[in-house]
Amino acid sequence: MTHQLSPNLLKVIQTLNDGKRHAGSDMAKQLGISRTAVWKIVQRLKNYNLAIEVQHQGYRLIEPVHLIEKAKIKKLLKNKEISMEILESVLSTNDYLRNIRPNKGPIVCLAEYQTKGRGRLGREWMSPFGCNIYCSFLFTVNKDISELSGLSLVIGILASQALESLNHNLKSMLKWPNDIYLGDKKAGGILIEVMAEANGSCTAIIGIGLNVNMKDVHFANNKPWTSLEHIVKQKSDRNVIAAKLIDYILNGLDVYVEEGFKPFLKEWKKYDYLANKDVSVQVGKTKSAGIAKGIDENGFLILETSKGAKEKFSSGDTTVI
Ligand code: BTN
Repeated sequence: MTHQLSPNLLKVIQTLNDGKRHAGSDMAKQLGISRTAVWKIVQRLKNYNLAIEVQHQGYRLIEPVHLIEKAKIKKLLKNKEISMEILESVLSTNDYLRNIRPNKGPIVCLAEYQTKGRGRLGREWMSPFGCNIYCSFLFTVNKDISELSGLSLVIGILASQALESLNHNLKSMLKWPNDIYLGDKKAGGILIEVMAEANGSCTAIIGIGLNVNMKDVHFANNKPWTSLEHIVKQKSDRNVIAAKLIDYILNGLDVYVEEGFKPFLKEWKKYDYLANKDVSVQVGKTKSAGIAKGIDENGFLILETSKGAKEKFSSGDTTVI
C-alpha cells in the first residue's frame, strides 16, 4: 500500500529525535493531535522496524532518524521544474511511477520504505525505513526504444558524478552494467524499465537505490554490500544527496537525449570497475569467462576470451573471478 509522507509522522519523529522519553499525552498536546493518533504513528514506525522503546505510555527513539523532506530538496535543487513526490511507504517506486502513466514527466519519486523493492533479474532490493535512497524518475523521450542503448550506464555515471561532487575523496566505481560500487562492494544499483508508447516515443522509468546511512543491518541470504556510512564513517544528509542526484540526472539526461551515449563513453573508463579483470558474464543459463576490455559505442561489454576472441554483451550479470 502507498502512503504519502505524513506531516504528523515527520513531527513525531522530530520530537523523538532528541533521544528522550516523551509521554504520548504530551506529544499529542504539543502536536495538536489525539493520543490515539500519536499511538497509531508509533505503531506504524514500529512496523517499519524502527527501534522505539515503549514504557509507561512514553516513547523513546533509540537512534535519531532524519527523514527526506521535499522542501529541503527543492531548496537545494538547481532544476526547479521537476515534479516530486515523497512517499512514506510504497511497494516499489518504479511500480508507483509506472501506474501514474501516461503522465509524461519528468517526475521523481522518493520513498522512505519499499515493501517490495526490486532489483535486476527479479532480485529483491532491501529497502529499510529512513536510511537510504530509493528513487525513481519517469521521463518521456521522442525516440524509439532501440535508440536508448547505454542509458543505464549513463545513469550510473551521473550517479557517481553526483556522489563525487559531494565528497571529492569518494571514489565510486561502476560494475557493468549498473552496480554502483564503493570500495570493493556494492552500494547501489539501477533498474531501468522502458516502455514504447503508441506515438513512437518511449517512457523510461529509472530506479536508483543507494545505501546511505545503513550500517549494522543483517539481511538473510544477501550478497555482500556496503553503504556510504561504511565508507565515510558518518551519517549523511539524504536530502543533500537526493538533490545532487536529481540535478545530475536531469542535466545528464538532456545531454543523452541530444547527443546519445557517445559523450559518456570516455567517462565510463574512469568508473569501469571490471576493466582488465577476469570476469564471468551470465546471460540466462549461459556463462562466459574472459578479461573485461571496457565497452563499445553502444555500451556493450567487451570480453576477451582465452582464445583472444572478442565477445560482446548487451546484457548479463557479471562477477569478478
Ligand atoms: C539492482 O542493482 O539490482 C537494481 C536495484 C534498483 C533498486 C531501486 S530502489 C528504487 C527503485 N525501486 C525499486 O523497486 N527498485 C529501484
